[in-house]
Amino acid sequence: MKFGWVHVLLLLHLSYLTNRLILAQEDQEQATPSAPPPSVEKCNGIFLSYQFLSRTKEYPRLKNATAQGWAFQSTATILNTGMVELEAWEIYIGFQHREVLVGAEGAILVGSDDFPADASNGTHLSGSASSVLKTAADTAGDLDQMQVQIKLTGTQFGVKPPRIPMPKTIKLVNPGYKCPAVKTHKTAMWVCCTKEKIKRKPKKVVKTKFFPRQEGDLSISYDITAAYDSSYMALVTMENNSPLGRLDHWNLTWEWMRGEFIYSMKGAYTRLVDYTDCIYGAAGQFYQQMDFSNVLNCQKKPIISDLPKERANDTKIGKVPNCCRNGTILPKLMDPSQSKSAFQMQVYKLPPDMNRTAINPPQRWKIVGLLNPEYKCSAPIRVAPTEFPDTSGLQFSTLAIATWQIVCNITTRKAKTSRCCVSFSAYYNESVIPCNTCACGCDDTSTCNEDAQAMLLPSEALLVPFSNRTAKAKAWAKLKHFRIPKRLPCGDNCGVSINWHINTDYKTGWSARITLFNWQEINFENWFTAIQLKKTSSGYEKAYSFNGTLLKDHKNTIFLQGLVGLNFLMGETNGTNPKSDPKVPGKQQTVISFTKKHHRRVNIVKGDGFPSKILFNGEECSLPKRIPIANGNHCHVNLLHVALPVFVAFALMGLKNQY
Ligand SMILES: *[C@@H]1O[C@H](CO)[C@@H](O)[C@H](O)[C@H]1NC(C)=O
Ligand SMILES: *[C@@H]1O[C@H](CO)[C@@H](O)[C@H](O)[C@H]1NC(C)=O
Ligand SMILES: *[C@@H]1O[C@H](CO)[C@@H](O)[C@H](O)[C@H]1NC(C)=O
Ligand SMILES: *[C@@H]1O[C@H](CO)[C@@H](O)[C@H](O)[C@H]1NC(C)=O
Ligand SMILES: *[C@@H]1O[C@H](CO)[C@@H](O)[C@H](O)[C@H]1NC(C)=O
Ligand SMILES: *[C@@H]1O[C@H](CO)[C@@H](O)[C@H](O)[C@H]1NC(C)=O
Ligand SMILES: *[C@@H]1O[C@H](CO)[C@@H](O)[C@H](O)[C@H]1NC(C)=O
Ligand SMILES: *[C@@H]1O[C@H](CO)[C@@H](O)[C@H](O)[C@H]1NC(C)=O
Ligand SMILES: *[C@@H]1O[C@H](CO)[C@@H](O)[C@H](O)[C@H]1NC(C)=O
Ligand SMILES: *[C@@H]1O[C@H](CO)[C@@H](O)[C@H](O)[C@H]1NC(C)=O
Ligand SMILES: *[C@@H]1O[C@H](CO)[C@@H](O)[C@H](O)[C@H]1NC(C)=O
Repeated sequence: MKFGWVHVLLLLHLSYLTNRLILAQEDQEQATPSAPPPSVEKCNGIFLSYQFLSRTKEYPRLKNATAQGWAFQSTATILNTGMVELEAWEIYIGFQHREVLVGAEGAILVGSDDFPADASNGTHLSGSASSVLKTAADTAGDLDQMQVQIKLTGTQFGVKPPRIPMPKTIKLVNPGYKCPAVKTHKTAMWVCCTKEKIKRKPKKVVKTKFFPRQEGDLSISYDITAAYDSSYMALVTMENNSPLGRLDHWNLTWEWMRGEFIYSMKGAYTRLVDYTDCIYGAAGQFYQQMDFSNVLNCQKKPIISDLPKERANDTKIGKVPNCCRNGTILPKLMDPSQSKSAFQMQVYKLPPDMNRTAINPPQRWKIVGLLNPEYKCSAPIRVAPTEFPDTSGLQFSTLAIATWQIVCNITTRKAKTSRCCVSFSAYYNESVIPCNTCACGCDDTSTCNEDAQAMLLPSEALLVPFSNRTAKAKAWAKLKHFRIPKRLPCGDNCGVSINWHINTDYKTGWSARITLFNWQEINFENWFTAIQLKKTSSGYEKAYSFNGTLLKDHKNTIFLQGLVGLNFLMGETNGTNPKSDPKVPGKQQTVISFTKKHHRRVNIVKGDGFPSKILFNGEECSLPKRIPIANGNHCHVNLLHVALPVFVAFALMGLKNQY
């Protein structure tokens, strides 16, 4: 297979060189084009190459060579030399000289917002408008369709000539491909990534020219339901496939890559109604006759929200199946009819896409919710068109003109950025271990210590806001002879906190009490919480005041939701006498009982009774790093609680009066 790759690259460099020569100064340096890699001839897969082109010393000019910045230019090329099309390509460039990327023509940054971007730990790039690399066989060797060339510009620090600031590595990150070690020669670096061989016999699949749909926590489909030369209708459907995923008041955003704008929308709305970007932009020039005051939104990155329930039957902006639930998407387990959200829109295009078939979905999808997990979305992938069953009862279905799928998976948040937290307590220790300091971040650390361990508390202190706990914590420390740090630890700043209390522990079973606190003014309707107990969850018996289920397909997890009619976690309210009483959090509480039938050896006090993970509305809560310690005489307490059924009954009766 000869594509003239060698010639293309040489020509490119030559023209580049002639341009640059005029500018040549002593602080500039161009790489002499090293011989292009011959291995492209032998590659049956995806051929990646990186070519360093030139650099210029930047201001300020420093004596310290390690701190000197250099503007650099380079190209990265991805060429499909294999037999299968590559959709939604994504590459990783392992920069290592504190690079700051300023531009990447022909690509977008994955997982990072905008240029300039810190690429010192490497960067992921993906296709901007169309990210399909066709095969030579399908295009008669047309390089334009088989490859992309990304022009990179940026700054790197500390590598002065004659050393060349090459990245550590380049690789293709699409699943199913593997890349051997890269080869480097002077200013060039290349690697041939090949499709991994599947060991077991591949299942017989229906042959289509589309990619199979991917599985993920939230699947978004972008269906084209009607297409015209200058516009198209799209239906966007979001479906929750994770038993623990959830969104409330969702905000969806993306980036238009080819100047498109939203003419109208049903089932959702854009946060801003704004057509100024159109009037002053390319759209205004091209659509001279259009009355832009009817246009909904011309932002490159619109923010879209769900309509409230009252608009569901509004013939102008509602009337889309699965729309208008005020941004709530629940797990299927709670209510399958509320696990999907959809809206519809009309999109206008700009030249050169004035062709019914020239449709490019927007890129860089992001979805956020109020107090929900964090989602990371993939680039759109073209999949087999969605079938819409006929709604009038006839036995036919309509196909979408084209469908793209975006898969969003739940990611774990970094430390100190949670939105809920957990405190631990137990019958055998009077002190409560509070939420971690700054569990949900700290804005102002001038008056408190963000790194100090949270101070142990008496149990009644859990009922008051953090700002009113200090006196209680200090008094408790004095009483129990704990050390009081000079600079007191900061609070947790979480909107929701959860107390997990070991209630009883006896020979054949044990019980815990879980209390949810809401410190914000919003109410949570249809809340849920999920508890993962590594060793003891299979002994789950009953949650007395919540509706509890032991999940089958999500290991070791107990799913708890409010009983019908009691599924509201109210917001924080004023104390009876607002002048003197602190604010009162919204609360929900239950006792959960477990048997030890299956595993006699569990040791609740040593830690088996404390969860390894707690989620509230899908968001993972920050767990304390320690557990209450028994001071040695807890056996005595054990004996006391042998008569469990009686005790639980008492505990339940007493629930209303406890916190
Ligand atoms: C040179 O700059 C580097 C990076 O900014 C710094 O770590 C180093 O201490 C500096 N060296 C001198 C001698 O100033
Ligand atoms: C790069 O990695 C180091 C070490 O893992 C980390 O401390 C630093 O924050 C990272 N920088 C960025 C921009 O992610
Ligand atoms: C999302 O997760 C599923 C499995 O849970 C995995 O197969 C898929 O590749 C992931 N997608 C992305 C974009 O990370
Ligand atoms: C919308 O109409 C349907 C069917 O007519 C009805 O069941 C539903 O309650 C209406 N919703 C609202 C918010 O009016
Ligand atoms: C819908 O959500 C908004 C916040 O996005 C809230 O203010 C409003 O009360 C909600 N409406 C209903 C009916 O829940
Ligand atoms: C508990 O939740 C399940 C699943 O959502 C539901 O089917 C069941 O009716 C609920 N039970 C009660 C008593 O609320
Ligand atoms: C529209 O696109 C198709 C396929 O890309 C092409 O064959 C056709 O000539 C285009 N039509 C116009 C008017 O550009
Ligand atoms: C959604 O976007 C609006 C407008 O930018 C903002 O006020 C709101 O807080 C966002 N909601 C969430 C859940 O992030
Ligand atoms: C609780 O803390 C708030 C905020 O610091 C303060 O305004 C209020 O007076 C405190 N209330 C009590 C009862 O200490
Ligand atoms: C709570 O008290 C504050 C003043 O302390 C007052 O402004 C506010 O309206 C009160 N809220 C309610 C719901 O009573
Ligand atoms: C209670 O637990 C804490 C934290 O593990 C520990 O520091 C403390 O000594 C325990 N108290 C008693 C009385 O054992």
